[in-house]
Amino acid sequence: MRVLRNIGLLATCRADGGQAEIHPLREAALAWEDGQIEWIGPEAQLPARYRDARSFDAAGRLVAPGLVDCHTHLAFAGWRADEFEQRIRGRSYLEIARSGGGILSTVHATRDASEEQLFERCRHFLDDILPLGVTTIECKSGYGLSREQELKLLRVYRALSEAGPARIVPTLLAAHVVPPEYRNDREGYVELVVREIIPQAAAEGLARCCDAFLEESAFTYGEAERILEAGREAGLLPKLHADQLSDGGGARLAATLRAVSADHLEHISDEGIQAIADKGVVAVSLPIATLVTNQHPLPARRLIERGVAVAVATDFNPGTAPSYHLPFALSLACSLQRMTPAEALKGATIHAARAVGLEDQVGSLEPGKVADFAVIDAPSVEQWLYHIRANACVATVIGGQVVAGELATAF
Ligand code: NIG
Ligand code: FE
Repeated sequence: MRVLRNIGLLATCRADGGQAEIHPLREAALAWEDGQIEWIGPEAQLPARYRDARSFDAAGRLVAPGLVDCHTHLAFAGWRADEFEQRIRGRSYLEIARSGGGILSTVHATRDASEEQLFERCRHFLDDILPLGVTTIECKSGYGLSREQELKLLRVYRALSEAGPARIVPTLLAAHVVPPEYRNDREGYVELVVREIIPQAAAEGLARCCDAFLEESAFTYGEAERILEAGREAGLLPKLHADQLSDGGGARLAATLRAVSADHLEHISDEGIQAIADKGVVAVSLPIATLVTNQHPLPARRLIERGVAVAVATDFNPGTAPSYHLPFALSLACSLQRMTPAEALKGATIHAARAVGLEDQVGSLEPGKVADFAVIDAPSVEQWLYHIRANACVATVIGGQVVAGELATAF
């Protein structure tokens, strides 16, 4: 048994209530055993059975659920700083993609990298990510684009998951773009994804979710629908890169498929908002990508008003979001998307957990859930997300174990 005492503010982030309702407790304590939360409440009401438990002192700080980054493309080789400069000079993301750069340039580099090299690189990224208070990371394939290469990326994620301590949620994104070998045979690539890549990834237990990029430069509505349906038949939860650079009806498709999430949504239509509201699809906002691609943000206020759960994630990738700093993404969600700090926090905890189908295990601090939490050096959520710091998190705990920073022992 372990107890964290003297918590100034405990943001439980339970699912019920609206986006802004993070169900905070003041002067609280949190008790856990064997990696699971046993009790939370006002410290004055801590049950007598915890009197002799080993205890830690939060020094009046803020404690939040371990953050869930529900959208990343973690495994890739190389970077694309040259394109960053080209875009600054006025070339668009789509122009660069059409001339063979963009996603395809990362595909070439990633195909040349070994599983071990990619594993090491991801481990270094995770060494930076966990100290930020992030405990669960969704990781997409999508820079392999062949059976062997997509499975290689998913195996990197399996190895990371086995190595611990981060909780990795692997997503198959074989439908990222059509690979060069199939430029004149799109149908052939869709067939390969549906008949070989999805069944094998599912049979080997290598993926939890299946994603597709529905966009002019990537896959059509019909192709994405076919791929995500095949994924669902194989037991993979559907997700969709939707309405990022144009309105391609992506939100509507996500609703029709009852996807766990529709992501990006900068160009979502009114009809799309209503469709995902009706079907309970989580809208994943990716403000770093919005900023880097210089677009207008998704209409977070309209989504929230219609009752859509809005998650916030980094989209970490070498093209549109070269940062895995989730707290920074939360600050951006406030300023760009006009979400309040509490709304943004709910977006990176319980709503993000829903976006990967793990809301029963992670994303909120409640008895029975895993003991994943972050101790933040701030008196309030507002102060935390307002003051954009290198890192305000002083300790990250996964499954009851401190994995970054430290917890001060109480006496
Ligand atoms: O989420 N939209 C598609 N995929 C990524 C970009 C990947 C890349 O540019 O390498 C995204 O923004
Ligand atoms: Fe993405």
